[in-house]
Amino acid sequence: MFPETRLRRLRQRRLQPLLRETELRATDLVAPLFIDETICGEYPIGSMPGQSRIPPNGIASVARRLYDAGIRAVILFGIPGKKDFHASSAFDPEGVIQNAVRSIREAVPGMVIMTDVCACEYTDHGHCGIIIEERDGPDLDNDSSLALMAKIAVSHAEAGADIVAPSCMLDGQVIAIRAALDESGFEKTPILSYSTKFASALYGPFREAADSGYSYGDRTTYQMDPANAREAFRESELDAEEGADILMVKPAGLYLDILKEIRSLGLPVAGYQVSGEYAMIKAAAEKGWINEKQVVLESLTCIKRAGADLIITYFAEDACRWLHEKR
Ligand code: PBG
Ligand code: ZN
Repeated sequence: MFPETRLRRLRQRRLQPLLRETELRATDLVAPLFIDETICGEYPIGSMPGQSRIPPNGIASVARRLYDAGIRAVILFGIPGKKDFHASSAFDPEGVIQNAVRSIREAVPGMVIMTDVCACEYTDHGHCGIIIEERDGPDLDNDSSLALMAKIAVSHAEAGADIVAPSCMLDGQVIAIRAALDESGFEKTPILSYSTKFASALYGPFREAADSGYSYGDRTTYQMDPANAREAFRESELDAEEGADILMVKPAGLYLDILKEIRSLGLPVAGYQVSGEYAMIKAAAEKGWINEKQVVLESLTCIKRAGADLIITYFAEDACRWLHEKR
């Protein structure tokens, strides 16, 4: 007679798959790729074991390998041959990303190609747009940077990007890019906005990966304070009002409460499992302290459970393999 309620009844081993509420799929995953114009062979990223920068002539075969493994979407980051104050190589029709988009499109027509729209890899100072002198020192100028993002996004769309993803956290980034895309005939190109992006210490390894570290200051005047949940919701709400097609929470793992709330806006939501999340799992696994496969699949499943429809993760290829093994 006691206990009356027995939740373990449904936890019998053979009943478990039948009752699983959340199932991670290979098609949920987006693989980030770094294309480096300055190298001739793959360049391993020290703080992200298993990840490399790829030279322009290697990108087609990497995309093919990912597609054959079951990955259906990539997001591209570029390391240009030349950086300057105005990030001019970011919107060069023959720039590193523009060329990579065309190579992947030709080699793997079925791949969904997303591009990160930002300037930090292309500016000599490493900040995400145009810098001006403010009362408290140099800072990112919002409106002149918006014009830059619009130009970058249009050049990516012209090269054939399926989805553009502004990551600069400027006010009005979505409406500015939407207007520019529509004006150039790309009204069908969706915008995946990095709508709620925190100023996180977990981006450390990415800055080595993408050579996008800043030479002074920090990003706290444009990226969000990790302590602020209501502001996090407003950021995504505004981007939705501006016409974003897909929203994003970044990083994902430490911000599942935010992800869950933002899902209520009704748009598809992406979670970005960032470089530091990847590095932490890799490092602990290398030491033999955790089981890498189990932790990766658990972390991705939990990001999905919290509300992510798609997940950007450096584990995409491995996770794909592990998901196929399970069946
Ligand atoms: C550039 C950008 C960053 C990331 C994605 N796009 C770095 C930053 O904002 O400093 C971080 C991704 C990661 O850490 O994996 N705006
Ligand atoms: Zn940036």
